[in-house]
Amino acid sequence: MLIFDKRLKTQVIYIIFKMSHYKYHLFFCLNQRENGNDCCAQHNAKGLFEHAKLRCKELGLAGSGKVRVNKAGCLDRCEHGPVMVVYPEGIWYTAIDQSDIDEIIDTHFVKGQVVDRLRID
Ligand code: FES
Repeated sequence: MLIFDKRLKTQVIYIIFKMSHYKYHLFFCLNQRENGNDCCAQHNAKGLFEHAKLRCKELGLAGSGKVRVNKAGCLDRCEHGPVMVVYPEGIWYTAIDQSDIDEIIDTHFVKGQVVDRLRID
């Protein structure tokens, strides 16, 4: 069993953060349930995902050292769908329409501030 002292743990976290290829990584659930149960796909997840990718590209935010928007399978938070999570912070969001996605991009990715009104805990 490895035991880290507090200073070493801080250094390891710093090194991992510095090695991250993207500043922000947005994982977007696009899961479609075949049995008819509620899922993110029923809440326009694919359309919002495509809008997020396009908007990040248009703003010059996409790419190494910037933002990466990725598809994800079920994130097991289906009741909040559509859901997405931003790393490295691990901030969870839901969105109703494209203006919500724009707000997440403009506020979180550009200004570095969490959008509390769209956050899910
Ligand atoms: S279907 Fe999206 S979190 Fe489960």
